[in-house]
Amino acid sequence: MGSAVEREKKAAAEAAVLMVKDGMTVGLGTGTTVAYLLPALARRELSIRCVATSPRTEAAADALGIRVEPFDTIDRLDLAIDGADQVSPDGWLVKGGGAALTREKLVAVTADRFIIIADSTKQVDALHSPIPLELLEFGLASTLRRLPSVAVRRVPKSPDGGVIADFEGDLGDPTLLAAFFGATPGVVEHGLFPPDLVGTVLIAHGAEVDVIAVSDPAP
Ligand code: A5P
Repeated sequence: MGSAVEREKKAAAEAAVLMVKDGMTVGLGTGTTVAYLLPALARRELSIRCVATSPRTEAAADALGIRVEPFDTIDRLDLAIDGADQVSPDGWLVKGGGAALTREKLVAVTADRFIIIADSTKQVDALHSPIPLELLEFGLASTLRRLPSVAVRRVPKSPDGGVIADFEGDLGDPTLLAAFFGATPGVVEHGLFPPDLVGTVLIAHGAEVDVIAVSDPAP
């Protein structure tokens, strides 16, 4: 039957699937929560077009009969649905625990609505480190010298050849830290997702799923 956290992931994922309608273009996130989304989506047998944020998700979707298209000619998505590592009370997210942050952010900004699915352990009072980063391999030592408190993670490179690392320092104001990462040459992407990117958060507490409208209109 799984742990309470697994049941919450499944409940949030199944609630999100109800937001997908026939004819939509949909971005599929990455991670253990999204792993519950895919079979629930496949069961609905909708006529939808999908893109995936990782080869893992693409393979899992494919195995369930959800056809995934390349993300090179699609310039708009109706929905993207993804998990998160942290969700703050004001709607900031930390993502990238599964190293897919760059593709996840690109898919999220392409979607009219970005839906987050999460178990209750993801809700935090304030964001904290680690903050995942993807760094360009070219000039890596230079980039690391200009980034305080960043350590390379011992994981394979991203599908785009990027080096995955984590900022382990004090977070302070996420807006300032996001701007710092964004202005640092060699940083491909960072795992801070601002509230204006986040439409709705579906967060499960036991069998209940709370719907938190961040930048979407209130339900
Ligand atoms: C992948 O890189 C991450 O951003 C995931 O979306 C995030 O880590 C949530 O993953 P879980 O659903 O496995 O907790």
